[in-house]
Amino acid sequence: MSAILHRIGGVDRESVPFELDGRPCTALEGDTVLTAILTQATRLREAEFSGTPRAGFCLMGACQDCWVQLVDGERLRACSTFVEPGMRVRTGSTR
Ligand code: FES
Repeated sequence: MSAILHRIGGVDRESVPFELDGRPCTALEGDTVLTAILTQATRLREAEFSGTPRAGFCLMGACQDCWVQLVDGERLRACSTFVEPGMRVRTGSTR
């Protein structure tokens, strides 16, 4: 799977292990969940009704386009939540 975001700097931060749709992944300390996901995948989630790929829109907590869910059922805005070690994110994406 390729990623939609590619790091060009700021890579000298601590690694943060997390899980994305059951797959072990690594983010960097200070990454938002959105950054953590989009450096691993080609979409943040899929739209509820159309199934079209989404990658967030405003990236500042206003548009509601980046909701993802944790395995325990908690929902969070990916653009305004920092990734944490052991976080288990479920996007509902099948690709
Ligand atoms: S991308 Fe708009 S609220 Fe997260």
